[in-house]
This record gives sequence, structure tokens and C-alpha cells, in this order.
Amino acid sequence: MKELVSIKSLSREQILTLLERATRLKSHPPGPILQGKIMASCFFEPSTRTRLSFEAAMKRLGGEVIGFSDALQSSSQKGESLSDSMRIVGLYSDLVTLRHPLEGAARLAAEVAGKPVINAGDGANEHPSQTLLDLYTMQESQGKLDGLKIAFVGDLLYGRTVHSLIYAFKHFGPRLYFVAPPTLTLPEELCQKLKEYGVRYSFHHEIEDVIENVDILYMTRIQKERFPHLEAYERVKDHYTLTPEMLERGSPHLRVLHPLPRLQEIDPRIDSSEKAYYFQQAENGLYVREALITTLLEVPV
Ligand code: CP
Repeated sequence: MKELVSIKSLSREQILTLLERATRLKSHPPGPILQGKIMASCFFEPSTRTRLSFEAAMKRLGGEVIGFSDALQSSSQKGESLSDSMRIVGLYSDLVTLRHPLEGAARLAAEVAGKPVINAGDGANEHPSQTLLDLYTMQESQGKLDGLKIAFVGDLLYGRTVHSLIYAFKHFGPRLYFVAPPTLTLPEELCQKLKEYGVRYSFHHEIEDVIENVDILYMTRIQKERFPHLEAYERVKDHYTLTPEMLERGSPHLRVLHPLPRLQEIDPRIDSSEKAYYFQQAENGLYVREALITTLLEVPV
């Protein structure tokens, strides 16, 4: 592995190997195996989990972090191109993580940085390290990855975590249920991919239509920042809220995931349910990102 720009570049074997490595790192923290290594953490968009778990992963393994968490702190404010910025941070570091609002930004960075680049989210396109931690969490909570029944709820149009997961499902033969308002349904290009992969899927209007059928309920936030017009956002922003009463109808092994942050789409009363697994999912981001960083830096674990 030389980079993680798109989850599409990983084979089933590469994904499973990364998840096994994450399991080892979770159960047996190895100490400062990244001493002397520097990660550049370049976030042109807000982040809590992705940035801090990447940075914590690096530091817990003895490495160091440089970078910025706000584009206002970078020379992009003076008009520097992304290409020039990435060429420069590649000179100062061993590995680059990049979050950027433009689709394709990570691909561009990977072409000029001269160091492994991890796409930490590029617009509505992909978020492949989130995909790996989502797969890890599905496997951890269900004991398997093959043949899971999974419902996605919310913003399927702009939701990059959903898009990246769909590409990964090429390898794991799930049955998928999509629950979204008509204006936020899955892009046709991704429906075509699912047909190509032979993955069965169906569309639904309400959570209640699918909750009894699934192993994983993957909730997503309706993302105000991706809408071209505020009024379109206002029309759909409160469309879904998962309540304890709805959750009772799910099977005992159902687990609720959410990439977070959440707004009103998950009632906080659910947090204490054993079916709520989104905080464990966020924690798993640390171990999966440790696995990713050590793999890209070719450090054995
Ligand atoms: N899941 C996720 O990407 O969260 P952040 O935006 O906080 O990084």
C-alpha cells in the first residue's frame, strides 16, 4: 500500500489484513514504534474524530504531528494552490493526512506530495479511513463481515462515508436497505456500482420499514454544509429521528452505527442501549488509523 485515496484501491485481502492489524494494536499496544516519524495533518474542513484520532494514533505510537486544523492558518489564505501546499508538506513529513472540501483533492495531493497520502475526506466523494473503521466495527459487533444486512439512513446523496462503504461492499456481499428523502437518495452512479458488484438493495421511506430486517442500522447526519440552497436543507433536516421505541423493534443483535457528529437523528436516550455502538465505533477509529499509518510507513506490528 502506497496511499489511501480511495477505498476502491484496496482488495479484500488488504482490507482484512488492515483489520487484523487493528485488532492486534487494540489488544496489545506496542509502544513507540513510530519514533522519528512525522505526520502532516492538513485539515481544510472542520473535524473532531478524524483529525484527533489520526493525531492520537501517531502520538501513541511515538511519532510526531505537524499541520493545521483550519485553512485560515495556512497559506491557502494567501492564494497558494493546493498542489504547491501539498508538495511542501511532503518535504517536511513522512505521511500526509488531508481533509478538503473539493472532490479529488486527495488524488491531487497524492500525485505531488512524494509521501503516502491518506484521504481524510474530500467533499462528498470519499472517506476511506472511516470505511475501514466502519468495517472493523461491523465485524467486531456482528462477528463477521460477509452477508450482513445493513440499512443506511439519512443523507445518501452527499454522504461520503456511505459512498466509500458501498465501494468496499464489493468484497463482502451484503444486503442493503436505503432510507432517505427523495432529494437525498443514492446517486445513480453508485446504484450502477452495486448492480455491477451483484449486491442486492432496495429503497424505503421510513426507518420502521426496515428496522426488523437488519443487523446494522447506519445513521447519518443531514449535512447542511453540502446543500447548495439553505431552504432545501430546511425541508429535510429533521426528517429522521431514531427513538428508543423504534429501536425496540430491532433484533437483539442489531447495532446502531453513526460516523458522527450527530444532530437530532439519534435520540440521546438511545446512548445507554446495548444496541448503540457509535461511541465504540469512534474509539475503533484510533486502532484502525494506527494500523493504516504503520502499514503506509512500512513499520511491522
Ligand atoms: N466521522 C467523522 O469524519 O467525524 P469528524 O468530521 O469529526 O472527523
